[in-house]
Amino acid sequence: MSSKKTNGKDVIETNGGAIPISHVVILVGVSGTGKTTVAKKITEEEHERENCSCNTAVICSTDKFIEEEAKKLGITYQKCMENIQKEGRFKEITGKFYDEIEESIKTDKHIIIDRTNLTKGSRKALLGKLSDIHKKYDKIMEVMAVCFNLTRDQIDEHLSIRELETGKTIPSDVVDKQLESFEVATKDEGFDFVQYMELRGDSTVKIKSDAE
Ligand SMILES: Nc1ncnc2c1ncn2[C@@H]1O[C@H](COP(=O)(O)OP(=O)(O)OP(=O)(O)O)[C@@H](O)[C@H]1O
Ligand SMILES: [Mg+2]
Repeated sequence: MSSKKTNGKDVIETNGGAIPISHVVILVGVSGTGKTTVAKKITEEEHERENCSCNTAVICSTDKFIEEEAKKLGITYQKCMENIQKEGRFKEITGKFYDEIEESIKTDKHIIIDRTNLTKGSRKALLGKLSDIHKKYDKIMEVMAVCFNLTRDQIDEHLSIRELETGKTIPSDVVDKQLESFEVATKDEGFDFVQYMELRGDSTVKIKSDAE
């Protein structure tokens, strides 16, 4: 088996023909660490490089559906989230999230999973589902984690700026709980590569990577 590029796509050559490699990036980090900002930057850079939208990665998140619904109803993100939880509809949103992931894998799009993915347990469940979808469509998955580690002060500063800019709020006790449950991603969870990110000045920078 060998890996090469065909029509701009990475493929694995086998005796049975070329199998596309599907690149999956799993973002890991508490609210306000900059996951969505980085996800958008990756797709914008990719878009410029490829000079067309066909190969750019799809950003898959549950937030996207909540934000769409909030906009449609003319309510805040926080209010919409409360309604969804009260009405027990989070499963429905998660269903849409997985449908988009499946459709993207089926159509050979690379994906960036933009959720907090804070615990090893939640990432294990996610990796299991991703692996099942790849098997279903005979695709090969290469999966990278990008793990954001910011201080509480940096997170609070981001969240207050975002609140002013967009009106999106995350209650402080939610951030507390997220920080309590956060487990740093490590390669032994099943990632091909882990990239660690910290905030230096006003740039989110790569501090080290783990490809061993
Ligand atoms: N490197 C950075 N420098 C300055 N501001 C940043 C940086 N990265 C992100 N921000 C700002 O911080 C705020 C939160 O970032 P972002 O929305 O990307 O976080 P998130 O991790 O996606 O949070 P959530 O999990 O709540 O969706 C935004 O207003 C964004 O503009
Ligand atoms: Mg986000």
